[in-house]
Amino acid sequence: MLSRRKIHNWRILKGQPLTELDKRMLYLQEHGHLVPTRELIKTPEQIEGIRRSGVVNTGVLDLVAQEIKEGMSTAAIDKLVYEYTKDHGAIPAPLNYEGFPKSVCTSINEVVCHGIPSEKEILRDGDIINVDVSTILDGYYSDASRMFMIGNVSPEKRRLVEVTKECLQIGMEAAKPFGYVGDIGHAIQKHAEKNGYSVVRDLCGHGVGLEFHEEPEVCHFGRKGTGMVLVPGMVFTIEPMINMGRYQVYIDADDNWTVLTDDGLPSAQWEHTFVMTDSGLEILTY
Ligand code: MF3
Ligand code: CO
Repeated sequence: MLSRRKIHNWRILKGQPLTELDKRMLYLQEHGHLVPTRELIKTPEQIEGIRRSGVVNTGVLDLVAQEIKEGMSTAAIDKLVYEYTKDHGAIPAPLNYEGFPKSVCTSINEVVCHGIPSEKEILRDGDIINVDVSTILDGYYSDASRMFMIGNVSPEKRRLVEVTKECLQIGMEAAKPFGYVGDIGHAIQKHAEKNGYSVVRDLCGHGVGLEFHEEPEVCHFGRKGTGMVLVPGMVFTIEPMINMGRYQVYIDADDNWTVLTDDGLPSAQWEHTFVMTDSGLEILTY
Protein backbone atom coordinates (compact mmCIF):
# COMPACT_ATOMS: atom_id res chain seq x y z
CA MET A 1 0.00 0.00 0.00
CA LEU A 2 1.40 3.36 -1.00
CA SER A 3 1.26 5.91 1.74
CA ARG A 4 -0.51 9.04 0.61
CA ARG A 5 1.38 12.15 1.52
CA LYS A 6 -1.04 14.98 2.04
CA ILE A 7 -0.48 17.86 -0.35
CA HIS A 8 -1.94 21.11 0.93
CA ASN A 9 -2.59 22.87 -2.36
CA TRP A 10 -5.60 24.80 -1.06
CA ARG A 11 -4.71 27.86 0.98
CA ILE A 12 -7.26 30.00 2.73
CA LEU A 13 -7.28 33.74 2.15
CA LYS A 14 -6.20 35.64 5.25
CA GLY A 15 -8.83 37.83 6.86
CA GLN A 16 -11.66 36.51 4.69
CA PRO A 17 -14.51 34.24 5.72
CA LEU A 18 -14.36 30.66 4.44
CA THR A 19 -16.54 30.06 1.39
CA GLU A 20 -18.40 26.82 0.77
CA LEU A 21 -15.69 25.95 -1.76
CA ASP A 22 -12.95 26.61 0.83
CA LYS A 23 -14.65 24.22 3.25
CA ARG A 24 -15.06 21.54 0.61
CA MET A 25 -11.43 21.82 -0.55
CA LEU A 26 -10.05 21.82 3.00
CA TYR A 27 -12.11 18.75 3.85
CA LEU A 28 -10.99 16.87 0.73
CA GLN A 29 -7.31 17.60 1.15
CA GLU A 30 -7.46 16.72 4.84
CA HIS A 31 -8.78 13.34 3.71
CA GLY A 32 -5.84 12.75 1.36
CA HIS A 33 -7.33 13.94 -1.94
CA LEU A 34 -5.26 16.05 -4.31
CA VAL A 35 -7.10 19.32 -4.82
CA PRO A 36 -6.08 22.10 -7.22
CA THR A 37 -4.39 25.28 -6.12
CA ARG A 38 -6.64 28.33 -6.08
CA GLU A 39 -4.81 29.66 -9.16
CA LEU A 40 -6.05 26.73 -11.25
CA ILE A 41 -9.65 27.86 -10.75
CA LYS A 42 -10.12 30.41 -13.52
CA THR A 43 -12.20 33.55 -12.97
CA PRO A 44 -15.17 34.19 -15.29
CA GLU A 45 -13.07 36.89 -16.99
CA GLN A 46 -10.20 34.48 -17.61
CA ILE A 47 -12.59 31.85 -18.96
CA GLU A 48 -13.99 34.42 -21.41
CA GLY A 49 -10.43 35.24 -22.51
CA ILE A 50 -9.66 31.56 -23.12
CA ARG A 51 -12.97 31.21 -24.96
CA ARG A 52 -12.05 34.09 -27.30
CA SER A 53 -8.67 32.47 -27.91
CA GLY A 54 -10.54 29.24 -28.65
CA VAL A 55 -12.67 30.99 -31.28
CA VAL A 56 -9.51 31.93 -33.23
CA ASN A 57 -8.10 28.43 -32.68
CA THR A 58 -11.29 26.88 -34.10
CA GLY A 59 -11.12 29.30 -37.05
CA VAL A 60 -7.64 28.01 -37.82
CA LEU A 61 -8.78 24.38 -37.75
CA ASP A 62 -11.83 25.18 -39.89
CA LEU A 63 -9.54 26.83 -42.45
CA VAL A 64 -7.23 23.80 -42.45
CA ALA A 65 -10.28 21.54 -42.89
CA GLN A 66 -11.26 23.54 -45.99
CA GLU A 67 -7.82 23.62 -47.56
CA ILE A 68 -6.18 20.30 -46.71
CA LYS A 69 -5.76 17.94 -49.64
CA GLU A 70 -3.58 15.34 -51.32
CA GLY A 71 -0.36 16.77 -52.78
CA MET A 72 -0.12 19.60 -50.25
CA SER A 73 3.00 19.93 -48.07
CA THR A 74 2.75 20.16 -44.32
CA ALA A 75 4.70 23.43 -44.65
CA ALA A 76 1.71 24.79 -46.58
CA ILE A 77 -0.53 23.90 -43.61
CA ASP A 78 1.93 25.71 -41.34
CA LYS A 79 1.69 28.81 -43.54
CA LEU A 80 -2.12 28.79 -43.39
CA VAL A 81 -1.99 28.51 -39.60
CA TYR A 82 0.59 31.26 -39.19
CA GLU A 83 -1.17 33.74 -41.45
CA TYR A 84 -4.73 33.17 -40.17
CA THR A 85 -3.52 33.43 -36.57
CA LYS A 86 -1.59 36.66 -37.20
CA ASP A 87 -4.50 38.14 -39.18
CA HIS A 88 -6.70 37.60 -36.13
CA GLY A 89 -4.35 39.39 -33.75
CA ALA A 90 -3.11 36.19 -32.16
CA ILE A 91 0.13 34.20 -31.86
CA PRO A 92 0.62 30.52 -32.72
CA ALA A 93 1.62 29.05 -29.35
CA PRO A 94 3.96 26.34 -30.72
CA LEU A 95 6.19 28.81 -32.60
CA ASN A 96 9.51 28.95 -30.69
CA TYR A 97 7.93 27.09 -27.76
CA GLU A 98 10.91 25.32 -26.19
CA GLY A 99 12.59 25.67 -29.57
CA PHE A 100 9.76 24.23 -31.69
CA PRO A 101 10.44 25.77 -35.13
CA LYS A 102 6.93 26.00 -36.64
CA SER A 103 3.40 27.28 -35.86
CA VAL A 104 1.57 23.95 -35.78
CA CYS A 105 2.21 20.24 -35.25
CA THR A 106 1.41 17.97 -38.21
CA SER A 107 1.56 14.26 -37.45
CA ILE A 108 1.01 11.75 -40.25
CA ASN A 109 0.22 8.01 -39.87
CA GLU A 110 2.75 6.46 -37.42
CA VAL A 111 3.71 9.90 -36.11
CA VAL A 112 1.95 10.17 -32.75
CA CYS A 113 2.37 13.93 -32.20
CA HIS A 114 4.75 16.92 -32.44
CA GLY A 115 5.48 16.37 -36.13
CA ILE A 116 7.27 19.38 -37.63
CA PRO A 117 5.81 20.79 -40.87
CA SER A 118 8.16 20.55 -43.84
CA GLU A 119 8.26 21.47 -47.54
CA LYS A 120 9.48 17.95 -48.17
CA GLU A 121 6.53 16.22 -46.53
CA ILE A 122 3.65 15.82 -48.98
CA LEU A 123 0.17 14.50 -48.11
CA ARG A 124 -0.54 11.24 -49.94
CA ASP A 125 -3.70 9.35 -50.76
CA GLY A 126 -4.58 7.16 -47.77
CA ASP A 127 -2.76 9.26 -45.14
CA ILE A 128 -4.28 10.16 -41.82
CA ILE A 129 -2.95 13.36 -40.29
CA ASN A 130 -3.38 15.12 -36.97
CA VAL A 131 -3.20 18.92 -37.11
CA ASP A 132 -2.62 20.29 -33.60
CA VAL A 133 -3.32 24.01 -33.27
CA SER A 134 -2.66 26.15 -30.21
CA THR A 135 -3.35 29.89 -30.01
CA ILE A 136 -2.39 32.76 -27.73
CA LEU A 137 -4.85 35.68 -27.84
CA ASP A 138 -4.39 38.57 -25.38
CA GLY A 139 -2.26 36.23 -23.26
CA TYR A 140 -4.86 33.45 -23.16
CA TYR A 141 -4.03 29.97 -24.49
CA SER A 142 -6.27 27.47 -26.24
CA ASP A 143 -5.34 24.10 -27.72
CA ALA A 144 -7.19 21.67 -30.01
CA SER A 145 -6.46 19.14 -32.70
CA ARG A 146 -8.35 17.17 -35.31
CA MET A 147 -7.66 14.25 -37.62
CA PHE A 148 -7.98 14.58 -41.37
CA MET A 149 -8.24 11.71 -43.82
CA ILE A 150 -6.61 12.19 -47.23
CA GLY A 151 -8.31 10.50 -50.16
CA ASN A 152 -9.05 6.79 -49.84
CA VAL A 153 -8.15 5.81 -46.30
CA SER A 154 -8.16 2.09 -45.40
CA PRO A 155 -11.07 0.89 -43.23
CA GLU A 156 -8.53 -0.01 -40.49
CA LYS A 157 -7.16 3.53 -40.27
CA ARG A 158 -10.65 5.02 -40.58
CA ARG A 159 -11.79 2.98 -37.62
CA LEU A 160 -8.76 4.12 -35.58
CA VAL A 161 -9.63 7.76 -36.30
CA GLU A 162 -13.28 7.22 -35.36
CA VAL A 163 -12.62 5.29 -32.16
CA THR A 164 -10.08 7.93 -31.08
CA LYS A 165 -12.74 10.61 -31.56
CA GLU A 166 -15.12 8.51 -29.44
CA CYS A 167 -12.36 8.30 -26.79
CA LEU A 168 -12.30 12.10 -26.55
CA GLN A 169 -16.11 12.23 -26.23
CA ILE A 170 -16.17 9.45 -23.62
CA GLY A 171 -13.37 11.11 -21.66
CA MET A 172 -15.30 14.36 -21.70
CA GLU A 173 -18.44 12.68 -20.39
CA ALA A 174 -16.50 10.91 -17.62
CA ALA A 175 -15.32 14.24 -16.18
CA LYS A 176 -17.74 15.35 -13.47
CA PRO A 177 -17.50 18.35 -11.14
CA PHE A 178 -15.75 17.14 -7.96
CA GLY A 179 -14.83 13.90 -9.72
CA TYR A 180 -11.20 13.00 -10.45
CA VAL A 181 -8.76 13.38 -13.32
CA GLY A 182 -8.29 9.59 -13.22
CA ASP A 183 -11.96 9.10 -14.14
CA ILE A 184 -11.16 10.55 -17.57
CA GLY A 185 -8.19 8.30 -18.25
CA HIS A 186 -10.01 5.23 -17.01
CA ALA A 187 -12.94 5.79 -19.39
CA ILE A 188 -10.67 6.45 -22.37
CA GLN A 189 -8.43 3.46 -21.74
CA LYS A 190 -11.44 1.16 -21.40
CA HIS A 191 -12.88 2.27 -24.73
CA ALA A 192 -9.56 2.14 -26.59
CA GLU A 193 -8.59 -1.30 -25.31
CA LYS A 194 -12.08 -2.70 -25.90
CA ASN A 195 -11.49 -1.83 -29.55
CA GLY A 196 -8.12 -3.57 -29.63
CA TYR A 197 -6.03 -0.38 -29.46
CA SER A 198 -3.55 0.99 -26.92
CA VAL A 199 -3.24 4.34 -25.16
CA VAL A 200 0.01 6.31 -25.39
CA ARG A 201 1.43 6.67 -21.88
CA ASP A 202 4.21 9.19 -22.34
CA LEU A 203 2.13 12.21 -23.36
CA CYS A 204 -0.95 13.54 -21.59
CA GLY A 205 -3.49 16.34 -21.63
CA HIS A 206 -2.83 19.33 -19.41
CA GLY A 207 -4.16 22.39 -17.70
CA VAL A 208 -4.12 25.35 -20.10
CA GLY A 209 -5.24 28.97 -20.27
CA LEU A 210 -2.79 31.34 -18.62
CA GLU A 211 0.14 29.25 -19.82
CA PHE A 212 0.50 26.61 -22.54
CA HIS A 213 0.96 23.76 -20.07
CA GLU A 214 -0.37 23.99 -16.54
CA GLU A 215 -1.39 21.51 -13.89
CA PRO A 216 -3.01 19.06 -13.81
CA GLU A 217 -1.56 16.41 -16.07
CA VAL A 218 -4.51 14.64 -17.71
CA CYS A 219 -3.44 11.12 -18.63
CA HIS A 220 -5.57 9.06 -20.99
CA PHE A 221 -5.21 5.86 -18.96
CA GLY A 222 -5.53 5.14 -15.29
CA ARG A 223 -7.85 4.42 -12.42
CA LYS A 224 -11.14 5.96 -11.37
CA GLY A 225 -11.06 8.10 -8.26
CA THR A 226 -7.35 8.94 -8.57
CA GLY A 227 -5.52 12.16 -9.35
CA MET A 228 -6.59 15.73 -8.89
CA VAL A 229 -10.16 16.65 -7.97
CA LEU A 230 -11.99 18.38 -10.85
CA VAL A 231 -13.32 21.70 -9.62
CA PRO A 232 -15.59 24.08 -11.57
CA GLY A 233 -13.45 26.77 -13.19
CA MET A 234 -10.57 24.44 -14.04
CA VAL A 235 -9.53 24.58 -17.70
CA PHE A 236 -7.64 21.70 -19.31
CA THR A 237 -7.24 19.65 -22.45
CA ILE A 238 -8.14 16.05 -23.14
CA GLU A 239 -6.12 14.79 -26.12
CA PRO A 240 -5.98 11.01 -26.34
CA MET A 241 -3.27 9.53 -28.55
CA ILE A 242 -4.45 6.04 -29.51
CA ASN A 243 -2.23 3.51 -31.26
CA MET A 244 -3.40 0.75 -33.56
CA GLY A 245 -0.68 -1.50 -32.15
CA ARG A 246 1.45 -1.19 -29.03
CA TYR A 247 1.55 1.92 -26.86
CA GLN A 248 5.33 2.40 -26.85
CA VAL A 249 6.70 5.47 -28.62
CA TYR A 250 10.07 7.08 -29.27
CA ILE A 251 11.34 10.53 -30.18
CA ASP A 252 13.09 11.06 -33.52
CA ALA A 253 16.76 11.66 -32.64
CA ASP A 254 17.23 13.88 -35.70
CA ASP A 255 14.80 16.62 -34.68
CA ASN A 256 14.18 15.82 -30.99
CA TRP A 257 10.46 16.53 -31.44
CA THR A 258 8.67 14.01 -33.65
CA VAL A 259 7.07 11.26 -31.58
CA LEU A 260 6.57 7.96 -33.44
CA THR A 261 5.10 4.57 -32.62
CA ASP A 262 7.73 1.91 -31.83
CA ASP A 263 5.98 -0.68 -33.96
CA GLY A 264 5.46 1.65 -36.93
CA LEU A 265 1.67 1.22 -36.84
CA PRO A 266 -0.62 4.26 -37.15
CA SER A 267 -1.69 6.51 -34.29
CA ALA A 268 -4.56 9.00 -34.03
CA GLN A 269 -5.38 11.95 -31.77
CA TRP A 270 -8.23 14.40 -31.16
CA GLU A 271 -8.11 17.27 -28.69
CA HIS A 272 -10.25 19.99 -27.18
CA THR A 273 -9.79 22.59 -24.45
CA PHE A 274 -12.52 22.33 -21.80
CA VAL A 275 -13.75 24.27 -18.79
CA MET A 276 -15.31 22.42 -15.88
CA THR A 277 -18.73 23.84 -14.99
CA ASP A 278 -21.25 22.97 -12.28
CA SER A 279 -22.76 20.41 -14.63
CA GLY A 280 -19.73 18.93 -16.45
CA LEU A 281 -17.27 19.91 -19.15
CA GLU A 282 -17.92 22.61 -21.69
CA ILE A 283 -15.80 22.75 -24.87
CA LEU A 284 -13.97 26.07 -25.39
CA THR A 285 -12.56 25.15 -28.80
CA TYR A 286 -15.71 24.61 -30.87
N1 MF3 B 1 -0.52 21.03 -28.67
C1 MF3 B 1 0.56 20.30 -28.07
C2 MF3 B 1 0.20 19.94 -26.66
O1 MF3 B 1 -0.90 19.71 -26.38
C3 MF3 B 1 1.74 21.15 -27.98
C4 MF3 B 1 2.69 20.90 -29.02
S1 MF3 B 1 3.39 22.37 -29.44
C5 MF3 B 1 5.01 22.05 -29.37
O2 MF3 B 1 1.01 19.91 -25.79
F1 MF3 B 1 5.59 23.14 -29.59
F2 MF3 B 1 5.31 21.61 -28.14
F3 MF3 B 1 5.27 21.15 -30.23
CO1 CO C 1 -2.37 20.02 -25.66
